[in-house]
Amino acid sequence: MSQGLDRLDAQLLLLNALALPMHSRAWLLSHDTDPLLPSHQAEFEAAVRRRLQGEPVAYITGHKEFFGLDLIVDPRVLIPRPDTETLVEWALEVLPFVGVGTESVQVLDLGTGSGAIALALKASRPDLKVHAIDASEEALAVARENAQRLQLEVDFQQGSWLHGIADLCDVIVSNPPYIAVQDAHLDALKHEPRLALISGPDGLDDIRCIVEQASAHLRPRGYLLLEHGYDQAMLVRELLQGAGFVDVQSKHDLNGLERCSGGRLSQDMTRSRLGMTDRPATNALPVLAPISDWVQRWSHLLASHATVLDIACGHGRHMKWFADRGHPVTGIDRSAEATKAAAAFGTAVLADIENGPWPLMDGNQARQYAAVIVTNYLWRPLFPLIRASIAPGGLLIYETFSKGHEGIGRPTRPDFLLQPAELLTVFRQLRVIAFEEGCLEDPPRVLQRIVAARPNCCVTESGKPKSYPL
Ligand SMILES: C[S@@+](CC[C@H](N)C(=O)[O-])C[C@H]1O[C@@H](n2cnc3c(N)ncnc32)[C@H](O)[C@@H]1O
Repeated sequence: MSQGLDRLDAQLLLLNALALPMHSRAWLLSHDTDPLLPSHQAEFEAAVRRRLQGEPVAYITGHKEFFGLDLIVDPRVLIPRPDTETLVEWALEVLPFVGVGTESVQVLDLGTGSGAIALALKASRPDLKVHAIDASEEALAVARENAQRLQLEVDFQQGSWLHGIADLCDVIVSNPPYIAVQDAHLDALKHEPRLALISGPDGLDDIRCIVEQASAHLRPRGYLLLEHGYDQAMLVRELLQGAGFVDVQSKHDLNGLERCSGGRLSQDMTRSRLGMTDRPATNALPVLAPISDWVQRWSHLLASHATVLDIACGHGRHMKWFADRGHPVTGIDRSAEATKAAAAFGTAVLADIENGPWPLMDGNQARQYAAVIVTNYLWRPLFPLIRASIAPGGLLIYETFSKGHEGIGRPTRPDFLLQPAELLTVFRQLRVIAFEEGCLEDPPRVLQRIVAARPNCCVTESGKPKSYPL
């Protein structure tokens, strides 16, 4: 009866007729000679007939596995493809670089269909706030059922791409329709919804629309990641670049084809959204002070894309320096005017950094950064939090006061002035320690104490140490 069927398809249909899980193919082999009950036989034969007429296995069984999740599918939704897992993996890769300093990371899945991408992201990162949109109410009914079965909280809404969406997101992901209306491949897809497949004469109508709309819906440094056809990568990259996205790149699917492209919101786009222009009028960006030599001297130790936290960021002179080099940056400052300006270069968080609460907490834990920058700022009570914010092996670039800035950031109470012993506690976990000449009251003594506490640490009094472990 199952003659002419792919062996795997036949096994899946048989498992389904026997009401066994789809991953039990080994069971079939070990029960090879068991007779089939007539009811199972009849169900299997009906399924085989449907398959021989071209209906996809997933619609016959009603299930499809995606990113380790068992999803319900039927002809109201596109059957999720393994290639789309590349998009999910990419989104998971960029997520650590977004939403820093915000209460929760917001992700939006456009054209969610069965909910595959949205649910996979929520299952992998339960802390995310995941929203999903589809134009088809029928598809959304399937997606909601999947969410309920899997007990995953996703906010599903009907809509057309980003029309009418008010909230800003950190990452927008989408596997939109991308097949050209005349494409010969459509014949093989006749069981799946047209709305999920076809997108104008060249297959790019929906991608164009999403790329055009996305920047207005992303937070600073937010990402737009798109799946597309095997031959559309270059065109999609051009669309993204044309819309001002930066770090535009493509990813390969399981067959080595460029099937996803994406990029990050550039500073210029963020700035124009904040109403800031490049030719400053009186209320535009302030002229930034030059960056500290000390920061310049040490930032080469950072891995590419390493996250940076700039404490007391001011108008963002150091944030700009790091953002220009591709680092996701978060700044904290207690001046509203400064944080507004600094936001043009990354995420700027307005907070009373002297009196707390520390704004970058995940529950009881401080968020960790590959590098923490502190310049012209000595505030003793803050240092335990600064220490907690440096990721293991991370970098603290700490300049007590640069020349000409001696009065800024100095604590009002003398007992809040940082003591060398406290610096030692901070320094203990660092991989490289360097001092500016003359900035600490007694550098040689501090140095001796650090060397005693951490004999293998690389310590220098100024400039680059002779060697340092990276
Ligand atoms: C290629 S399917 C992707 C489904 C699912 N995300 C996946 O990867 O399996 C595209 C989805 O986009 C939806 N869609 C088509 N046009 C849309 C529009 N204008 N706005 C929102 N969703 C749309 C379709 O209903 C369909 O569910």
